[in-house]
Amino acid sequence: MGISNKHIVLGVSGGIAAYKSADLVRRLREHGAQVKVVMTANAEQFITALTMQAVSGQPVHLSLLDPAAEAGMGHIELARWADVVLVAPATANFIARLTHGSADDLLNTLCLATEAPVMLAPAMNQQMWQDPATQENITTLKNRGVGILGPGVGDQACGETGPGRMLEPAELVDAVFAVFASGALEGDKVVVTAGPTWEAIDPVRGITNLSSGKMGYAVAEAASEAGAQVVLVSGPTCLAPPENVRLVSVCSAQNMYDAVMSEVGDAQIFIAVAAVADYRPVSAAQEKIKKHRDTLTIELVKNPDILSAVAQRDNCFTVGFAAETSSIEKHAREKLEKKGVDLIAANKVGDGEGFTADDNALLLIDRGEMRSLPSMSKPQLARILIQEISKRYHAKSPAQDSRRAHR
Ligand code: C5P
Repeated sequence: MGISNKHIVLGVSGGIAAYKSADLVRRLREHGAQVKVVMTANAEQFITALTMQAVSGQPVHLSLLDPAAEAGMGHIELARWADVVLVAPATANFIARLTHGSADDLLNTLCLATEAPVMLAPAMNQQMWQDPATQENITTLKNRGVGILGPGVGDQACGETGPGRMLEPAELVDAVFAVFASGALEGDKVVVTAGPTWEAIDPVRGITNLSSGKMGYAVAEAASEAGAQVVLVSGPTCLAPPENVRLVSVCSAQNMYDAVMSEVGDAQIFIAVAAVADYRPVSAAQEKIKKHRDTLTIELVKNPDILSAVAQRDNCFTVGFAAETSSIEKHAREKLEKKGVDLIAANKVGDGEGFTADDNALLLIDRGEMRSLPSMSKPQLARILIQEISKRYHAKSPAQDSRRAHR
């Protein structure tokens, strides 16, 4: 695992955040990656090609028509050379041109010509980011499989505050690592829970919640990409299961508990992403309840806590999610201890964040350092999460690793 000797094309378009691109190159190279830099004409207004050449140790590519390239087709050579193309910063203009398939400069052309994953780190004024034109472009690019990293929220060079800051170089390095995380969980069995549960009140009514299942499905897919054998125990969702993942469909929390318990015996990692109902009706009515009475009382009983039960068995590395509307860190730390799990991924829900959204941000809390993963698409976030879980799991279970090495 890692990015040693990986070929990274770093595209730099013309925004003030370009000054951070030099640091990004340096960090990528510290991890052993080979970096070739492509700059747009506007990028050269913010940082010199000489600087980028010095930090990358490679000639910088500036022009679509490159007599120095073999057969004069620099874009094709670079497109084939790249294992990943990262554009940081990606301006509103670059994003618009990529959305429309422009091929009028080297960077846009190479993004069209490459089969490698393309990832963008947007950076622009917050109003430009929130403009419907930019947002539609971003949605189109996401649907085409382009990775959108960030942007972050905070003070901007223009003096305004809001979303539009380029993610920090260290965060972008994490995202590049996640692309190459495959193999990190080779040979491991991972059980993931996802979606809401449905607690029947009568044959047509029940207690449920707004969980879409998107995060859990993304986590299952990322674990599978990392080489794990994945069992996804899912409550009712509208999602298609990821390829190469065994789906176990369940309804109630009790069903989910039973399914998980019969799967975790030989699992190495358990990741509880499901939004499990805390209570269920003591008994579900056999017939549809009629509205004869003015008030109706439904007695509820507590559901088993699946995550705590798995953590108690002590055979798995356990990861819990904590969806909170406030005091995220405090509640997450309490959950870490109370449930006895190895890692908590906490996120904010409500106000359109978390449950049904396509993007998410997480705070990773264990008994060591806390890590914040900035807002990005759930699949991308899931890849970074799996990488973080894998690191911690391997650090905790070296015995399992050496057993695997002898298999
Ligand atoms: O206690 P709380 O529901 O906030 O904890 C959330 C975490 O615990 C999530 O990872 C969730 O999947 C898990 N959980 C569970 N079984 C329950 C309740 C929560 O596995 N009955």
